[in-house]
Amino acid sequence: MADRKQIRIFDTTLRDGEQSPGASMNLPEKLEVAQALLTLGVDIIEAGFPIASPGDFEAVREIANNFRGAAICGLARCNDRDIDRAWEAVKGAQDPRIHVFLATSAIHREFKLKMTREEIIGRAVAGVQRAVSYCDDVEFSPEDAARTEADFLCEVVEAAIAAGAATVNIPDTVGYATPAQMGKVIEMLINRVPNIDQTVISVHCHNDLGLAVANSLAALEAGAGQIECTINGIGERAGNCALEEIVMAIHTRSDYYPYETGINTKRLAPTSRLVSAITGMQVQRNKAIVGRNAFAHEAGIHQDGMLKERTTYEIMRPEDVGFAKTDLVLGKHSGRAALADRAKSLGFQLTGEQLRSVFERFKELADRKKEIYDGDIVALVQQQLHNTPDEEWSLVRFEATSSSGSPPRVKITLRRGEEEITQETSEGDGLIDAAFLATEQITGVKLICKDYRVRSATLGHDALGEVTLEVEHNGQIHRARGVSTDTVEATVMAILDAVNRIVGGK
Ligand code: KIV
Ligand code: ZN
Repeated sequence: MADRKQIRIFDTTLRDGEQSPGASMNLPEKLEVAQALLTLGVDIIEAGFPIASPGDFEAVREIANNFRGAAICGLARCNDRDIDRAWEAVKGAQDPRIHVFLATSAIHREFKLKMTREEIIGRAVAGVQRAVSYCDDVEFSPEDAARTEADFLCEVVEAAIAAGAATVNIPDTVGYATPAQMGKVIEMLINRVPNIDQTVISVHCHNDLGLAVANSLAALEAGAGQIECTINGIGERAGNCALEEIVMAIHTRSDYYPYETGINTKRLAPTSRLVSAITGMQVQRNKAIVGRNAFAHEAGIHQDGMLKERTTYEIMRPEDVGFAKTDLVLGKHSGRAALADRAKSLGFQLTGEQLRSVFERFKELADRKKEIYDGDIVALVQQQLHNTPDEEWSLVRFEATSSSGSPPRVKITLRRGEEEITQETSEGDGLIDAAFLATEQITGVKLICKDYRVRSATLGHDALGEVTLEVEHNGQIHRARGVSTDTVEATVMAILDAVNRIVGGK
């Protein structure tokens, strides 16, 4: 292992990941994700963009002040206010990093920044110098580097390194690059930028063409030493390079790639579940590494091969990425400690209050359903983590009837403080529509439904149904969840989750 190159894993789930529509996180949630990233073993946590909002600033500062074991980074544009604010936020970290960026491509120069090449170089150098005046660990990103003219990119990179950038990150901001091209860009920088050996080359690939991981691997092969990525690949538009995929590519193909990372791969599935719970962004079933089907073998020939020799059809073991070997069953006699223990091994470290609430729901579920599987526990915990802790509205009871030929009828009673309000409606185009209308009539919060999904948490008719919603309110997207063995009830819970997130200003 000694001759393997150590690749730095720069996680930007809390910054670029959080830029996914509807994926915003509050402070306790960000702290929980930061803790999970540390346990996972990332080298750098990009904790946010401190100038963007007081909430972002506060989160970066809290993470910088309280977490040890990884560099904590704050993002800044190349201007004094951004950089000063980023430093204020990260200065309490053991290893603070400031990440400054400025677009360099012709399209961005001409239409967005209206700056000449000379002005760009001047601004980039001034930004890096200001950041360096605060801390040694400064990263510079020429935004949209993959579409920047080669000569100019070399010039900017050389100037940023001369100004003190310890890391130069090459972003494919719009996911336009292809693997061979990305490799050539890195190779070109190594061959043409005279001071390139004074910096670590990083890449930050977006996934618009589904190539983010492939592009990042090509960059590594060409000499990059840092990968920017996110859990579950979340991020702007189609997202970023998925951390779990690039790490497992390096790990599984260690015969081919002479690299290693500091990631504890057994924490990949638990961290993926946590981020999915907190952001409300479900992981697609067939997602590589962490999807529910990633290790499911359906075809008879495959199952037969697996029974004879696992490696016939399996290149990684599920337990290597943190999937439990067995789906342990809990039931109505299982206690709180057994539940906490199972939740922990699934990646959720619950606080006393969270455990109390999940245990209550677990007991209700155990009354309805004999055997409770890991999938049920994940659904209950994810619901709990996604809910706002001080919800304004809660569900007291609901009734729903529907039959062919007559309008649906929904009656909902909600509680706010001491007050209970009941609303009955026979309007609407089906039970779900009626549930939206009744909730809106009580709470006054109008939601436009953008996406509605139901899936079962486990196998069987009696499985928990998980409803995920994407709704728009005042031009903002919110994600919400509800979980119940009754899908109408799960829907009402998801609608209330959305309302509570909105009225709670989340
Ligand atoms: O995609 C991008 O270019 C970015 C930069 C800020 C690195 O996120
Ligand atoms: Zn990005």
